[in-house]
Amino acid sequence: MPPANEPLFTSEGRSSIHSEERAAQEDDALLGNQRRRSNTTRGVFWREIGLFTWAILATVAVIVLAILLKCQPSQNKPEKHTGKRNLVFMVSDGMGPASLSLTRSFRQYQNGLPIDDVLVLDEHFIGSSRTRSSNSLVTDSAAGATAFSCGKKSYNGAISILPDHTPCGTVLEAAKRAGYMTGLVVTTSLTDATPACFASHANIRSEEDLIAQQEVGHYPLGRVVDLMFGGGRCHFLPNTTSGSCRADNQDITKLAQDEYGWNYIDNRQDFDDIKAGGAAVKLPLLGLFADYNIPFEIDRRNMDDVYPSLEEMAQVALKALEAATQDSDKGFFLMIEGSRIDHAGHGNDPAAQVHEVMAYDRAFGSVVEFLEKSHVDGVLVATSDHETGGLATARQLDAHYPEYLWYPGVLANVSSSAEYLARRLNSEIDSNLLEGDKLKNWINEEFVKNGLGILDASDDELQLIIDQPKVSAYYFADMVSRRAQIGWSTHGHSAVDVNIYGTAGSSNLRGNHENTNVGEFLREYLDVDVDAVTKELIKGSKSFNIADTEEAGWTGRIPSEEDLQSVLRYHEELYGKAP
Ligand SMILES: *[C@@H]1O[C@H](CO)[C@@H](O)[C@H](O)[C@H]1NC(C)=O
Ligand SMILES: *[C@@H]1O[C@H](CO)[C@@H](O)[C@H](O)[C@H]1NC(C)=O
Ligand SMILES: [Zn+2]
Repeated sequence: MPPANEPLFTSEGRSSIHSEERAAQEDDALLGNQRRRSNTTRGVFWREIGLFTWAILATVAVIVLAILLKCQPSQNKPEKHTGKRNLVFMVSDGMGPASLSLTRSFRQYQNGLPIDDVLVLDEHFIGSSRTRSSNSLVTDSAAGATAFSCGKKSYNGAISILPDHTPCGTVLEAAKRAGYMTGLVVTTSLTDATPACFASHANIRSEEDLIAQQEVGHYPLGRVVDLMFGGGRCHFLPNTTSGSCRADNQDITKLAQDEYGWNYIDNRQDFDDIKAGGAAVKLPLLGLFADYNIPFEIDRRNMDDVYPSLEEMAQVALKALEAATQDSDKGFFLMIEGSRIDHAGHGNDPAAQVHEVMAYDRAFGSVVEFLEKSHVDGVLVATSDHETGGLATARQLDAHYPEYLWYPGVLANVSSSAEYLARRLNSEIDSNLLEGDKLKNWINEEFVKNGLGILDASDDELQLIIDQPKVSAYYFADMVSRRAQIGWSTHGHSAVDVNIYGTAGSSNLRGNHENTNVGEFLREYLDVDVDAVTKELIKGSKSFNIADTEEAGWTGRIPSEEDLQSVLRYHEELYGKAP
């Protein structure tokens, strides 16, 4: 086959035109000019030469066209990226397609927007992802994030560990090895499954104390993260401190600073100083802004002086990483998670959910804008690990023919999450000494009317809350869902495909993909060697040991089937058992 750059069209194309002219002349002669009858034999000869040449040239032209077309970027041909570049990967934990419909309609209702008004996410929709794990059709966030970080399927509960319990190198670790700067920004605990999967390895996700030490660098690779913002401070503080949830007395904030060079901030004021540019950002930087989760956005907006928003954290992280890579030929890799869309799903709380998705959408939009303005090439890819709640934007409430509607106005009247109201109820119910109708009235006024915006609570509904205040979060959320005619099929996760979003440069993820393809995209975009990191981890495993996990090895004990089952009930402690 001739090389595509040979000038086939220029020289031979001309002779093709000439031979066609000649053939036409011959045709003329044959059909209309008796005078030239004596030249017929010669004419046939030329005509055959002409046809033959034309056939050869047509074949060559088809081949050349085929080669040229193959060189064009298309869906079949993977996009290649070269030069300095940044990659932002966003995860909307537990956000399925119905969450988008719910939030889009809610936002239109609340702000009086036209029916064609869409979310920023909607404008960047490119495909969908299949989410099953190695051992179940319904994944959890640990197996889901392992598919992104390692590009491999594993079992529910696995933190970048394969089914044979060996660690797999992650895209963040490989990015660090390749010279990129790296960051993690989340609204839940930094030790929770999604962030954990990028910078630690544990046989079961509940080993959050172990994950905290690994994330600051106490594991075979040393420190691989340059910036971490989120909640989960309790796993970094020794059990002798108030606000700790560690089982031991190790101070991971101290370990981070003394052994691994981290700068540490733990409050909104210090964050604001950095945000305003008043304090120079020194990396590595660990920012822990809540003991456990940062509050749901619906509640956080009233505590803005205590907790930064996802968008603010994302922007500060982007600027810090951009500045830190200014003189480097490598950019950065940043993972940003809207972590608590999942929690709103577990709690079946539609009002908390729409505010979480809107906050995530704002963060997404701000990343798009950042990348557009940046002088460095960059791509944003966003997806979910799975859907949570089996959310449906319609609900049949009784045996009658279903109504074709749901009521966003009910959600617009809710001012607090069910989680927040339940926590407040439980902290106040014992000390307020009310009984009977007075207690019922107090709950109705303070929580149902003021908190949920529900003015028509029935006696039975209020009695359920009084009887089981510990699980009142479920009752509060259910009262809202029924009135809004929003359906839920589970307090856990579901197996529905989730959406993939991306900016220019992410076309390799168009269409329907396995979640591991998303992981492959990340490593391919950055052009980093994840397998080399896996080898380094396995080699390092032999020499690395930490005192109190010596028996189990540095990735923690290998869980029993029972342990893995209990991992699936992971959020129970947040909401109590479902009624
Ligand atoms: C705190 O941790 C130490 C081990 O580091 C342990 O001996 C002690 O029992 C723990 N205390 C509590 C209250 O859990
Ligand atoms: C929302 O609250 C207002 C004021 O209390 C009330 O008039 C309205 O009916 C409520 N809307 C819905 C859909 O419940
Ligand atoms: Zn979940």
